[in-house]
Amino acid sequence: MSVAEPLTLAVLVSGNGSNLQAIIDRIEAGEIHARIACVISNVHGVFALERARRHGIPTVIHANGAFATRREYDNALVEVLRTHRVELVVLAGFMRILSDVMIGAFPGAVINIHPALLPAFPGLHAQKQALEYGVKFSGCTVHFVDNGTDTGPIILQAVVPVMQDDSEESLSRRILQEEHRIFPESIRLFAEGKLSFHGRQVRISS
Ligand code: GAR
Repeated sequence: MSVAEPLTLAVLVSGNGSNLQAIIDRIEAGEIHARIACVISNVHGVFALERARRHGIPTVIHANGAFATRREYDNALVEVLRTHRVELVVLAGFMRILSDVMIGAFPGAVINIHPALLPAFPGLHAQKQALEYGVKFSGCTVHFVDNGTDTGPIILQAVVPVMQDDSEESLSRRILQEEHRIFPESIRLFAEGKLSFHGRQVRISS
């Protein structure tokens, strides 16, 4: 019996990389049939890069300032991804908006984690937005990336309570615990071919 090749991922990061770590751990545990071909950061010196190195994963710095326009940045990024034969692009705390160049190059194959229950609180500082609004529940969303900001088809969501005395940090920590569960799980579903589109609805087969 022939065994299918693992799905080739690139994980794009800008910071701590705790979601990257959760993905690495599930792959190393043999729970996701995938391999991370490279970790790409738009910021130098972030801890996510150190996490990648500790696991022998190649790293690439694709710095914000090195390109004149968003499209030039994305064209060069597509080239890096193609060189590594990437099949799924995973935005794990990548704090940069992608243009139609990237989305067009990887249709249905770019996913993002957002620390709120979309469509509520898209964009930056989602946890702060939730606290200021006064919602009683928030959470996180894994979604396919389209040309909008945090508007693409939703794969998985998880809900957490918001406490009266929550700070941005305490709420972020509670949400992150759920991120670390649903993001790797979404990648597993993708790798196993279990996700399909019906309009903008993502259906999950068992
Ligand atoms: C996560 O909370 C993720 O949802 C958020 O950045 C954090 C990255 O943490 N992403 C966004 O806000 C994207 N708009 P990590 O570097 O520890 O994975």
